[in-house]
Amino acid sequence: MTHIALALLLLMQPPTPWWKHAVVYEIYPRSFQDSNGDGIGDLKGITSRLDYLHDLGIDAIWLTPCYPSPQVDFGYDISNYESIDPKYGTLADFDELVREARKRGIRILMDMVMNHTSDQHPWFIESRSSKTNPKRDWYVWRDGKGPGEPPNNWLSEFGHSAWQYDSTTGQYYYHKFYRQQPDLNWRNPAVERAMFNVVRFWLDRGVAGFRLDAITTLFEDPELRDEKVLPGKNAYGDQNEDDARTDNHPEVHDVLKSLRKVIDSFSGQRVLIGETYLHGPEDLNKMYGANNDELQLPMDMQVGLIDTLDAAAFRRRITESQTLIRGNIPLFVFNNHDIHRSLDRYHPYAAKIVATILLASRDAAQMYYGEEIGMKTTPPTRKEDVRDPIGITGWPKEKGRDGERTPMQWDSTANAGFTTDTPWLPVPPTADTVNVARETKEPGSLLSWYKKLIALRKTNTSLREGTNEMLDFDQSNVLAWLRKSEAGTVVVVCNMSPETKTITLRGALRPILRSDSAATGRSMPPYAVYIGAVQ
Ligand code: NOJ
Repeated sequence: MTHIALALLLLMQPPTPWWKHAVVYEIYPRSFQDSNGDGIGDLKGITSRLDYLHDLGIDAIWLTPCYPSPQVDFGYDISNYESIDPKYGTLADFDELVREARKRGIRILMDMVMNHTSDQHPWFIESRSSKTNPKRDWYVWRDGKGPGEPPNNWLSEFGHSAWQYDSTTGQYYYHKFYRQQPDLNWRNPAVERAMFNVVRFWLDRGVAGFRLDAITTLFEDPELRDEKVLPGKNAYGDQNEDDARTDNHPEVHDVLKSLRKVIDSFSGQRVLIGETYLHGPEDLNKMYGANNDELQLPMDMQVGLIDTLDAAAFRRRITESQTLIRGNIPLFVFNNHDIHRSLDRYHPYAAKIVATILLASRDAAQMYYGEEIGMKTTPPTRKEDVRDPIGITGWPKEKGRDGERTPMQWDSTANAGFTTDTPWLPVPPTADTVNVARETKEPGSLLSWYKKLIALRKTNTSLREGTNEMLDFDQSNVLAWLRKSEAGTVVVVCNMSPETKTITLRGALRPILRSDSAATGRSMPPYAVYIGAVQ
């Protein structure tokens, strides 16, 4: 074959979709960068930090909701799906963010909350106004079982009954989350039509796709059967129960298929990411669709939430993610705005190991702002300081999610460079030492480690596209794997233990990146990481 023919053939190959190897960076707009001095982050603030994100090497930003909202759930209670909350800016600011990000090769993903709206959304205001209102059936309304008794025993994720009595019409409405977040009735085709129009609105504005909030909870058992009661109580004092009637209903898959058709009708490889806390890899496998026609990237929460430095558990779960999802790409997640930061859930010395599992595996990688500098969870110490309502309902067992939403730590000046006013959540004391400005200058910092790993993911063919083969050997608490491609084999070794370990590996090794100059791949100091070419 001539060179020209080969070049033509290569040009004819469909390009690998960008999201397959993507690093998606989650931004909680309230906490990333304030540009107008009101103590709350905003879109212009994010735009002003794009050079930092470009330098870090990310491919896309997932923006948690910044639509108009009463902010009961800090944006997850949406009152208008086609605008921007004035707290965060304007649609023009949004367009500017998309444009400026694109100039730097960064895509913007929106958070799409389809399970529920705010109770202040005009749809719900109409719906609750009378039983005969045309929007009545857009939400889930039912009679109580008897006076003062909700229709069944279903619980809200955020504590207590999932049914709220509404005196205007004497019926209850269902809310999986806060009572200010009534669930939409996805069995009404008008709801799907309205929501898909919202999706088109943002796709037309240039977003690269969506992270679908609480996507597994769109449907509930139509017969409203009680959930099975389980032993024990939750942090809110409610009797524990199963979620089989209110989560993962098979009809979710029909919606996902239709939604996938919508996004595929737009050019430019748009992507659907799902918030999918599931029971195991079999459930995860289903989220891609039997014909790979549903989510491209359901979140794999199985790996990131192992929560202990147990190499055998990681080996098992990562192997599952490589073998049980039919060659699809898992999206690994160690951090987000709902869970305690990985620095606290794993050993702080293991921060580089966490980064390595996330960025040197065969996966798409989701990061959360501040993870790259080693931000800690800093929960409120007094109930009166709590901002997240579940922290008030559940205090002191459940302190809410403020601790993982504290302002980004840019530098060691007042308020960590986040704002010139009082920040909406206090800046953690760690900001003096854990911050972008300091870590940028230090080659051995966690931030530098993330940058190097992300750069390697882009430039090393095996780390980018290679297979992922876990190594199983006698050494306890050493996690190691091979990434193999036509370009060669790369070995990744992580010592998850506080002792030096000696490892048997075949072949000559050439170091590519290591966290400790004493790490040779065969001799591994405590918590060391070694990435090397196998020759
Ligand atoms: C999941 C979101 O991540 C969380 O922050 C929110 O409270 C619930 N869904 C309800 O929208």
